[in-house]
Amino acid sequence: MEALNSVTAEAATRHPRRVAINTGGGDAPGLNAVIHSAVLSALNLGWEVFGIRKGYEGLFQDDGLIALDRSRVQGIARTGGTILGTTNRGNPLEWPRERPDGTVETVDRSAEIVERFRQRKLDALIAIGGDGSLSIASALYERGLPVVGVPKTIDNDLAATQVTFGFHTAVQTASDAVDKLHATAESHERVMVVEVMGRHTGWIALHAGLSGSADVILIPEIPYTMESVTRRIESRYSQGPRYSIVVVAEGAKPVGGEPVFKAQTRPGDNLRYGGIAERVADQIQEQTGFETRALVLGHLQRGGNPTAYDRLLSLEFGAAAVDMVRDEAFGCMVALQPPEIRAVPLAEAVKAVKSVPLDGDLVRTARRLGVSFGD
Ligand code: F6P
Repeated sequence: MEALNSVTAEAATRHPRRVAINTGGGDAPGLNAVIHSAVLSALNLGWEVFGIRKGYEGLFQDDGLIALDRSRVQGIARTGGTILGTTNRGNPLEWPRERPDGTVETVDRSAEIVERFRQRKLDALIAIGGDGSLSIASALYERGLPVVGVPKTIDNDLAATQVTFGFHTAVQTASDAVDKLHATAESHERVMVVEVMGRHTGWIALHAGLSGSADVILIPEIPYTMESVTRRIESRYSQGPRYSIVVVAEGAKPVGGEPVFKAQTRPGDNLRYGGIAERVADQIQEQTGFETRALVLGHLQRGGNPTAYDRLLSLEFGAAAVDMVRDEAFGCMVALQPPEIRAVPLAEAVKAVKSVPLDGDLVRTARRLGVSFGD
C-alpha cells in the first residue's frame, strides 16, 4: 500500500479527463460531500465529471449520465442522501430480469457495463459504496473497468478503513433517540427496547447505547441469553430508577439462535433484517412482568445532514479518490489508516468484516459501568 502523495504534476496533466462517479447500495450521510469533493478536485485538474444515475442503471439509459459541473454540486456537501440516486438491486453481475411468466432470473451484464463505459468515452469510475457495491466494483475492475472505490456504510463494518463516513451521523441520530426515550421510559416505568442498524456488527448499537446510557446492549458479536438480559433489568428496577433502556443491533442473536429476518416481499431483494427488538421486548415483559415497548429506528439512521466529522471524512475521501485516478491506482479503495488516507486493493478490502473487538476500550468501559451485553 502506498500513501497518496507521490503524484507528479506531469502525471496530473497526462491522465484521465472524463471521470464518472456512482453511488451504490444503501445511502449514507456524506455521499453528497464525497461527490462534491471529487467533482471540484477533478474540475480543478481540468477534467470532465459525470454522475451515473442509480448505481450502474444510468449506463443503460439515454439520459442516465449527468454532467457534474460546479453549479450542480454547489451546496450539496451539507446534505444527506445522494444526488445521483442509488439502488441495492443493481448488481451488474446478477441483474434481475423478469421472465414472461413474472418470475425473476438474474443475468450477468458486466461485459455490457464495461463496453458502455468505453462507448461513453469514460476514462475512470469512482464507485462509492459499501461491501456489496465495492465487491461489484472489484469484479468490474477484474473485467477491465478502471475503477477506484470509496467506502461508505453507516454500519462501519469494513476492516480496511478505520471508519466509514455516515457512521458518525447514524450514531448521533441513534444516541439522540435513546436520550429522548429516557423521559418516556421513566414516566411510565417501562423497559424500552430500541433496534438500530447493524447486520453483522454492533458498532452503532455499542456507540449509541453507551453514549445514551443504555443498561443492556445486544450486538451480533456477543450472542445473548434472556436470563442475563432480565437479570440486569431486574437489578436496576430493584436498586434504582424503575425503567430501563435496551439497545439492540438488528443482527443480534441469542446463544445458539439466529437473527430475525423480515419476509422477502419482492423477488431479487437482499435478505432484510428486522424484528429483534419486538422479540426481545416480548420476552422481557413475559419474563419480568415489567411493561415493555419496542421501537425500530430504521432508515432514520441513514437520513439527515452529515455531522461535521462525516463531512470532513467524506471531503477527504472524495479528493483522495481523484488523486488515485490521477495515480492510476485502479482496483484500489480509499481507506482511512491514520495518520494517512491510503489506497488499499479492493479485492482484499471487501473481504474482511470489521467486528467490534470484544476486548476493546468501549466494550470494557461499558462493562465497568455495569452495562450488560447479555452474555
Ligand atoms: O448497510 C446499511 C444498512 O443500513 C443495514 O444496516 C440495513 O440492514 C440495511 O442497510 C437496510 O437497507 P435497505 O432497507 O435499504 O435494503
